[in-house]
Amino acid sequence: MNQQRTTFGSQLGILLASVGCAVGLGNIWRFPYMLGTNGGAAFLLVYVICILMLGVPVLISEFFIGRYAKRNTVGAFAVMAPGTKWSIIGYNGVLAAFFIAGFYYVLSGWTLDYIFTSATTSLEGKTAADFSNEFEAFSSGIFRPVICTLLFIGISHYIVVSGVKNGIERASKILMPIFFLILIVMCIRSATLSGAGEGFRFLFQPDFSKINSSIVLSATGQAFFSLSLGMGCMITYGSYFGAKTNLQKTSIHVTLIDTFVSILGGILVFPAVFHFGIEPTAGVELVFITLPNILAQLPFSNVWAVTFFILLAVAAITSTIALHEVATAYLHEEFKISRKLSTFYVTIGVSVFSVLAALSFGILKEATIFGLTFFELLDYLTAKVMLPFGGMLICIFVGNRVDRKILKAELTNKGSVPFYFFNTYCFVTKYVAPIAIGAVFLNELGLFKLFNFLF
Ligand code: TRP
Repeated sequence: MNQQRTTFGSQLGILLASVGCAVGLGNIWRFPYMLGTNGGAAFLLVYVICILMLGVPVLISEFFIGRYAKRNTVGAFAVMAPGTKWSIIGYNGVLAAFFIAGFYYVLSGWTLDYIFTSATTSLEGKTAADFSNEFEAFSSGIFRPVICTLLFIGISHYIVVSGVKNGIERASKILMPIFFLILIVMCIRSATLSGAGEGFRFLFQPDFSKINSSIVLSATGQAFFSLSLGMGCMITYGSYFGAKTNLQKTSIHVTLIDTFVSILGGILVFPAVFHFGIEPTAGVELVFITLPNILAQLPFSNVWAVTFFILLAVAAITSTIALHEVATAYLHEEFKISRKLSTFYVTIGVSVFSVLAALSFGILKEATIFGLTFFELLDYLTAKVMLPFGGMLICIFVGNRVDRKILKAELTNKGSVPFYFFNTYCFVTKYVAPIAIGAVFLNELGLFKLFNFLF
């Protein structure tokens, strides 16, 4: 196989880049919002089980494919199963990267605007209605959301064009520690508010009667989204790993850190939510409308607000560069286009998607497809269709197509590191994960509802 391929420079770089890819708005925005709307601690419990049963095996499988094939997500299947249709997993992934980037960049752009706004205008004295109206006015505009989105795309472009080692790895090594520092300070602030106990109970004291199939399915979807699985991103990152990287250990570390950050996301949001008497079920608004409310009532509100939105922006950028990289690596390797030009093409492509998604809160609000705005359509198609579909196929591929000897040799670095529970991993990958993910997939498409309706 190609020995000259770029790799990340160090084990720490590998870990931080992968953690940077996984940790993002999914942990700080989506996780608290899902937990809030899905029964609190019961959701957390089910989520952790999904992460262990599905997340870890799929993550190991993606890293395996990437490092073994040393190619982008489409090329990897051409190397491992030449002349077959398995590369459909890769095409699904590249398309998903454009789609996720399309709406993720819009949210990321908003964080930039919130940083500027919090830095320049006083938050004191504003009411909940003010924040809500301001959000409406801002997000439905043209100039500000579009400019902020494009600005964020520009920053990602700059990092990705600088290369795997000098761009992505270096940015992750600088940004992830900053992210953790701000997050922990913010969590301490939230956890020491009066009334925090109620938030902790909501987060950690499960009411088992709340567990139902819909919570299980939401938790599975969240596990996929949060670990960036099912679209070949971890295949692409795995392809930059060195021969010495311990894939099992790296997968477990990434999973533990990602899950820990989601829990911190909960600790950040819920004590404050209960302290200020806000509904934990607020949904999508939780971060962009509810939290400014909370921040405004703290002493030095502007400092806290700027800090908080920098945290979100940093979390977002290490994920957007990963999304950018999936498509860039594909163009660069499969079409032999220079890395610079590949990055540029991807930037143009995601800009088109993102601008349309940004405008779908305003002038394109009425332009709906299947009753969804463009933003909602991208979100729906990726999280609910493409990621579960890709994840399921990845498991079927590794479970059925890959020779066990090759699998074991790659996962143990040719016998030099241990791989614990190999047989369990194979069993889960071959049977448990595809069936479970298949069930989620069918449910999300509403097929189970059709079943219930028919019988
Ligand atoms: N995991 C990211 C988050 O939690 C979101 C995400 C999903 C993602 N799929 C991805 C990021 C692929 C990068 C690449 O915010």
